[in-house]
Amino acid sequence: MLPQWLIEKKRDGQALSDEEIRWFIEGFTVGRIPDYQMAAMAMAIYCRGMTAAETAVITDAMMRSGDLVDTSAIQRPKADKHSTGGIGDKVSLILAPLVACCGVAVPMISGRGLGITGGTLDKLESIPGYRTDLSEKQFVEVIQKCGCSIIGQTGRLAPADKKLYALRDVTGTVPSIPLITASIMSKKLAEGIDALVLDVKWGKGAFMRTMEDARTLARSMVDVGVHMGKGMAALITDMNRPLGRCAGNALEVIESVQTLQGEGPADLVEVTLALSARMLLLVKKARDEKEARAMLQKHLDSGKAYEVFQEMVRLQGGDPASLEKLHNVHTASLQEPLPALESGTVAAVDAERVGKACVVLGAGRVKTDDKVDFAVGVSNLVQVSENVTKGQPLVVVHANDENRLEEARKLLDGAFTIRREPVKTPPLVYETILP
Ligand code: URA
Repeated sequence: MLPQWLIEKKRDGQALSDEEIRWFIEGFTVGRIPDYQMAAMAMAIYCRGMTAAETAVITDAMMRSGDLVDTSAIQRPKADKHSTGGIGDKVSLILAPLVACCGVAVPMISGRGLGITGGTLDKLESIPGYRTDLSEKQFVEVIQKCGCSIIGQTGRLAPADKKLYALRDVTGTVPSIPLITASIMSKKLAEGIDALVLDVKWGKGAFMRTMEDARTLARSMVDVGVHMGKGMAALITDMNRPLGRCAGNALEVIESVQTLQGEGPADLVEVTLALSARMLLLVKKARDEKEARAMLQKHLDSGKAYEVFQEMVRLQGGDPASLEKLHNVHTASLQEPLPALESGTVAAVDAERVGKACVVLGAGRVKTDDKVDFAVGVSNLVQVSENVTKGQPLVVVHANDENRLEEARKLLDGAFTIRREPVKTPPLVYETILP
């Protein structure tokens, strides 16, 4: 077999066999197949697509390119959630301890922000001392002690994806449904979980710009997970507007802590409960959504979920006492409210503009090795369907640099649509995709 024969086969629109896909991925992982041939194959897959069976095999091959986390010592059912990313999406920080309170283990391996979407690891690293680079053994120990752990991808987890993602990034082959499916699912399935809930976001601030694309990606990932014997569900959620009232690393941790203390914004609470309830249903900790939500609400209201979060932070080297004074640990030197120019009802808050403003301020990354500024971002965002009066702040911008503040202000000036007539709030969860 020669790599070019398989590239030609895919280029001409034929399906590759299991053996051919595994041979190609294995060859690429060990360096026998050079980057240029993998890049050509990625482009052939981008143009010709893959069948559901091929997508399942490439996912499995990428998952097996590295270590699989051995979670067999954990007695509880194991479930995780993955979000395709958005602006202000801090759900993982609340969901992991909350679901852990219900007797489920949550082994969560998360990523960093890239482009306009934020990353869970960057947010957590704004907590003084918090370590995201635990060994597999430490990861399992933390889960055994408090029920959840959130860490970063180790070099040994799905290395084929790490190499391929870097190539896709520079060859125009990122937006391919089979390649996105294999990339996300190979990492998640290497975590040793029984069930996975996907939060597939669509809209201006999301990777998937249309609901149709989000649905296709969700269906593809659910099918692959089911093929691998996992309990699967996907929620299609709104990312035309930011989630919650804050975006930016430390600002989002502060909002997550407030949510765990029962003071969270309603949209963030709702999306968190909807995803958490699905996880409980998949591992049969609840009989129906009503029962699942009641369990979750109880742990949120009692403060138990916050206790678990504090414990996770402590076990991962972080200082739980810093959580309630993070605004003092990371304080932006400039904090500027942007006033409404007219009175009316908020009809839209453009998630893409808010996300770009955060990147401009330094909260996000343009390149993978960029450093993020934990203190900057936006807070006090008004939300769709709220009434505002002229002069009232629509958002507070947190910046550490005058020029960046100015650039962010320009983006944010066009982010809010205010109307005279009443506005109907769009749904937060559009659809649930089940096997
Ligand atoms: N996130 C990933 O991990 N991989 C992709 O291909 C896209 C988003």
